[in-house]
Amino acid sequence: MKNLGILISGRGSNMESILKAIKKQKIPINPAIVISNKSNAKGLAIAKKMGVQTAVIDSSKYKGRRLQFDEEIISTLRKYNVTPTNGLVCLAGFMRIISPHFIKEYKNKILNIHPALLPAFPGLDAQKQAMEFGAKYSGCTVHFVDEGVDTGPIIIQGIVEIGNKDTEKTLTKKILIKEHEIYPKAVELFAKKKLSIKGRRVRISS
Ligand code: GAR
Repeated sequence: MKNLGILISGRGSNMESILKAIKKQKIPINPAIVISNKSNAKGLAIAKKMGVQTAVIDSSKYKGRRLQFDEEIISTLRKYNVTPTNGLVCLAGFMRIISPHFIKEYKNKILNIHPALLPAFPGLDAQKQAMEFGAKYSGCTVHFVDEGVDTGPIIIQGIVEIGNKDTEKTLTKKILIKEHEIYPKAVELFAKKKLSIKGRRVRISS
């Protein structure tokens, strides 16, 4: 069974949805470690309560030393046996751009969730971007992480409609509900070896 490392920065609701699904639906992956780059991330307490090991690597102590920060993350992942051959890394509201070195080392073994229908509205404040643009639909995307910002091969997307009465706040809430559906699903597909990548396309086998 593969080992899972989850990287968070805050609330950790996506992390929680993944951990719950692993337990409830018996997804064949071992939640080995949750790492936060912030010591006050709410998700840390949730992970502990669910019996998952946690670690804090405080990014504020690595100003201008991004590579060293990533090296510390990698060595912590390895410590818990989340290796490129034996592991999966999920970015779940991890608000840091990871280095090409990290991405290369864990090629096609890092997933991210983004609160928009990529390739629309990448980067920060995706829900605000969709509202301001006047999009009629938005949603969320789980994708493999590559060297770009939110550009990697897409695994699953969830769609929500943007109604007349929606605000950034209500849209964010609607999208989050979808996020909690599709991220555990993507982890399950990975764990069951149902994903293959050809160029930019991710094939899901049945
Ligand atoms: C989620 O909405 C996630 O899509 C977003 O941060 C939130 C984290 O919530 N991620 C990004 O915007 C990454 N670019 P959570 O901590 O409750 O999972």
